[in-house]
Amino acid sequence: MRTVAHISDLHFGRIDRAVVEGLVADLMRVAPDVVVISGDLVQRAKESHFLQARAFLERLPFPVMVVPGNHDIPVYNVFLRFTNPLGLYRRHIARDLSPVRVDSDIAILGLNTARSAILDFSEGRLNQTQIARIQDVFGALPPAVFKILFTHHPFLPPPDAPGTRLVGRHRLALPALEACGVDLLLAGHLHRAYSGDIMTHHTQVARSILVAQASTATSTRLRNEANAYNKIVIGTDGGAHTVTLEVRSWEGAFFTPGLVSRYRRDGGRWTLVHQDTGFRPADARTA
Ligand SMILES: [Fe+2]
Ligand SMILES: [Fe+2]
Repeated sequence: MRTVAHISDLHFGRIDRAVVEGLVADLMRVAPDVVVISGDLVQRAKESHFLQARAFLERLPFPVMVVPGNHDIPVYNVFLRFTNPLGLYRRHIARDLSPVRVDSDIAILGLNTARSAILDFSEGRLNQTQIARIQDVFGALPPAVFKILFTHHPFLPPPDAPGTRLVGRHRLALPALEACGVDLLLAGHLHRAYSGDIMTHHTQVARSILVAQASTATSTRLRNEANAYNKIVIGTDGGAHTVTLEVRSWEGAFFTPGLVSRYRRDGGRWTLVHQDTGFRPADARTA
């Protein structure tokens, strides 16, 4: 069994301090095996914002894997944006833009989808080298190893907004994900928490791949949702992989379990076997 804390879109420079403290406290309680951060660590890619993000990371006594998001690239400093867009990110957050971690149970790969040289650089994309890396890292691993790919930009739109722009060149990457037996995709960028199966949207894909999107963990840039992150527990049941995805939401004083979805890979396909909205009638809560 492995526990992954998936946090995203921290946006240091525009954070709620109480939420940051609550997040650190909650992560200490959850004690994940690894913290995966899917980009947008800062709001404006200024050195002061990166220093705040670095101070946050220093407080986490867990392995941390991180990729940049579009906000980690300077917007207004045009010189930096084009000459060294991820210089400050690499100096203060992580030198490695494609972190990988493999053990006997899980393999996790991160890819940088933030781009400075595209017209709308809030959008992201993958390239051929990165798609080859998916194959290099995951291709030789047996099916028993649970495979997670994380990026900033999403592969699956929200259920109520199917026209949402996805990570560029996802159509080229999907066959590689399928061929390598990727099990779970993690991303952020939209500041919305939802999960689902890639096959529900990308009908050309023949492999069931679970997707978990995270809300913004700490920023005040909320999109009608509370600050939240994903606690993901990966296990097995009768030889089949299981994923328990818990959206832990900020309730004003601390993070609490919101929607809990339990998935099981049955006959190659992810099935939602149990879901708990977290809602309890008032009399049950006071009992
Ligand atoms: Fe963001
Ligand atoms: Fe973003």
